[in-house]
Amino acid sequence: MATLHDKIKNREAKVAVIGIGYVGLPLVVEVAKAGFTVVGYDKSAEKVKQANAGKSYIKDVSDETLAPLVASGKVSASNDPDVLAKADVVVICVPTPLNKTKDPDNSFIMAAADDLLPRLHKDTLVILESTTFPGFTREVLVPHLEKNGLEVGKDIFVAFSPERVDPGNPKFHTKNTPKVVGGSTPACTQLAQAMYGSVMERIVPVTSTDAAEMVKLLENTFRAVNIGLVNEVAIMCQKLGIDTWEVIDAAATKPFGFMPFYPGPGLGGHCIPVDPHYLSWKLKTLKYNARFIELAGEINSSMPDFVVARTADALNDRERSLKGSKLLVLGVAYKRDIDDVRESPALDVIDLFRQKGAHVAYHDPFIPSLRLGHEGEGERMESVPFENLGGYDAVVIVTDHTTTDYVRVVTEAKLVIDTRNAAKKVKDKAKAKIVTL
Ligand SMILES: NC(=O)c1ccc[n+]([C@@H]2O[C@H](COP(=O)([O-])OP(=O)(O)OC[C@H]3O[C@@H](n4cnc5c(N)ncnc54)[C@H](O)[C@@H]3O)[C@@H](O)[C@H]2O)c1
Repeated sequence: MATLHDKIKNREAKVAVIGIGYVGLPLVVEVAKAGFTVVGYDKSAEKVKQANAGKSYIKDVSDETLAPLVASGKVSASNDPDVLAKADVVVICVPTPLNKTKDPDNSFIMAAADDLLPRLHKDTLVILESTTFPGFTREVLVPHLEKNGLEVGKDIFVAFSPERVDPGNPKFHTKNTPKVVGGSTPACTQLAQAMYGSVMERIVPVTSTDAAEMVKLLENTFRAVNIGLVNEVAIMCQKLGIDTWEVIDAAATKPFGFMPFYPGPGLGGHCIPVDPHYLSWKLKTLKYNARFIELAGEINSSMPDFVVARTADALNDRERSLKGSKLLVLGVAYKRDIDDVRESPALDVIDLFRQKGAHVAYHDPFIPSLRLGHEGEGERMESVPFENLGGYDAVVIVTDHTTTDYVRVVTEAKLVIDTRNAAKKVKDKAKAKIVTL
């Protein structure tokens, strides 16, 4: 009988991906393109229906790529957990948010593991990709998967491999982003390496699941802390009357020892604002306070207030108050060129403007409508057309989509608050005053 390693090598292993969202669907496609048969298991009936129709709901996956894989039978989707029973390799890509008290919410992983457990058979490789705290795979997932008597490293194999997808990145995607893997045992690492080595260009093995979990948290904490630092530099430069962007651009000419980060209206998305809290939560259980993470979180989450204060000051210079002003927030996605508004600081900026009595509209070609409030429970707003820019007291650029016509912004608007320095290249054409961070 062929071993699991042989089945992977010969592309005969049946692969199941639990959770076919931003991370799972691109993975399904790459695994299928490498020659495997893949089923995506998701609780969302809508996603399953669309995937089976060859229609992608993820911007980084085109219908042209997905549809032929579905038509050839390489890719299918289902919301029946019984599809997991046939899998030789199961990859878990479900959400890992924070709960209301900012503690890790691993309930989605545990629900996936509960669905898998009664269907798990000998010689299965289970890989967790969802971000979690160091120790989760070893302390929580492995004991759970061993409940029916199958032993990890002997009967079944478990690894953690952090997902690094950067939605909207034109250069790096699932296949060409190096993949870190750490198994529960050396045999687990080898199998995970063989699996991903069949699909991705470069695999980086580490010696444990704990180390692999920590890699992800280091990467995202590094970003959160450096963004926090540069946001504080922006606050300091404003007090000193120095142009932050000029300073960063000049510092970035240093060919070694400096990496530019840029200030902005705050953190967004489901990774950078969330993941460092997984690490600080775990350290709290060990009676250690992760100070850099806490401080960066404090500064980054104060940035929407800073944007509102800058706007109020600029309006004040024109003898206007925020109260009663007409404002256009330009760009609300959590970052450039994507259709995702999760945790976007634009939601806070809009909310704060409204609390001060401003009349706020927004324009974003990627987000036709949104709900205020981070739980998506607030009032609904619709994107207004990109016109009559001179009819607003200020245009506040929160997200810098590359498709935005900044010449029109700086020539038509009365006042521009540019939190991303997006209009930098067309500044010389400006009729409006431009205020940067
Ligand atoms: N989106 C990113 O840019 C990104 C980048 C790196 C890492 N991650 C991490 O990857 C993980 C997944 O994130 P995402 O952005 O793909 O989330 P997502 O919300 O886009 O997708 C998750 C999917 O899982 C499904 N799901 C939830 N519980 C399920 C269950 N018990 N069984 C089956 N399906 C279930 C949901 O219906 C959804 O379709 C998270 O841990 C996240 O932190 C995300």
